[in-house]
Amino acid sequence: MTKVAILGIGTVGSGTADIFQDNADLIRKNVGDDVEVKYILCRRMRPDSRFAPRIVLDFDVIERDPEVKVVAECMGGVDPAYDYVARAIRAGKHVVSSNKQLVAERGLELTHLAREHGVAFLFEGSVGGGIPVLRPIMRCLAANRIDSVYGILNGTTNYILTEMIQCGKSFGQALKEAQEKGYAEADPTADVEGIDACRKICILSDMCFGYNVDPAQVRTEGISKIASVDVDYARRMGYRIKLLGRTLRLPDGRVTAYVAPHFVDMENPVVNVDGVLNGIVIHGNAVGNTVYSGPGAGASETGSAVAADILDCLTGPMDRQPIWEAQPEGYFMDADELACRWFVRTKAGLAEIGEAFGSVRFVSIPGGDPEEYAFSTEEMSRKRLMEVGAGMGLLAAYRILDE
Ligand code: HSE
Repeated sequence: MTKVAILGIGTVGSGTADIFQDNADLIRKNVGDDVEVKYILCRRMRPDSRFAPRIVLDFDVIERDPEVKVVAECMGGVDPAYDYVARAIRAGKHVVSSNKQLVAERGLELTHLAREHGVAFLFEGSVGGGIPVLRPIMRCLAANRIDSVYGILNGTTNYILTEMIQCGKSFGQALKEAQEKGYAEADPTADVEGIDACRKICILSDMCFGYNVDPAQVRTEGISKIASVDVDYARRMGYRIKLLGRTLRLPDGRVTAYVAPHFVDMENPVVNVDGVLNGIVIHGNAVGNTVYSGPGAGASETGSAVAADILDCLTGPMDRQPIWEAQPEGYFMDADELACRWFVRTKAGLAEIGEAFGSVRFVSIPGGDPEEYAFSTEEMSRKRLMEVGAGMGLLAAYRILDE
């Protein structure tokens, strides 16, 4: 009998424990032994839980038990998760995690600590929930030079935008509904302001390009300022607004990463990834575009990825481990320098628009505010856009994804 432990009994922790209980037979077949969740670390006892006999309140019990081969960290946040993960690694246990904040902020140290101690540190569930995406990067695309990754990395915001696009709801209405359905947290800031997607694009950048990107470097814009009228303009122009995380290797070798709403054309592989689903496009120089989509959150969905990581730890633990290095000087380019076409909405006059932006394409919608102009620009960096738009009262400025 092989023993594992789970830290946290929230959505992902309980989903993972359920999988070990419900799929015990096929897990035995895969591992060649019965696998038991011996402990679940919680903040308080839960006498009514299906897992009550396994609940412990003290991490020491898990750390000191030599029977526990793998620890699955499903707590979220950095404190105390970082301490527990580091202690488990030092105790010679493999660790898996679904915690995107921990991996984005402390993954550099933890992957190296795991290597030093000869154990695995895997975190498939931290990006895209149940969608296999990190393993394809490490394994199936290993012979490619990856040039770019972008995608819908947050289900809550994708749900809100889908409701705005398909049902004409305002941001406020759609958010309220997302909260009622349990998709968005009572405090939805990390989702709606793009912070969650930022953590995930950092992990993708680390994994694809080999050097650490700190979430603090990544320009992050969420969806809270998107007006219904911008959804209408996007539709009129043949686009949908999607919140994308994006990381690119530039021709000069530098890397950039950012999170922002984009106008995405109707041919793009993620344009129809709707509701709480996530969708990710990875471009490799040999394979071209590869597309991954599916459930980016949820108990059994993310639990599926955590459980698979645990099985990998038990069957082939040291076979290709994720690891990256500290960022060298000059590696990261501020995304403000990255050029693209823009959708712009402003109350400025025609002469002012012409002077600032040169050649633009105007767009109008029935019932649009007659005092506003909306248009798409030629390619320019965000830095340039902000310079020429300063003092013009820009009401909206969104990147157009030309991929
Ligand atoms: N809050 C996240 C989302 C959960 O909405 O995608 C999964 O990371």
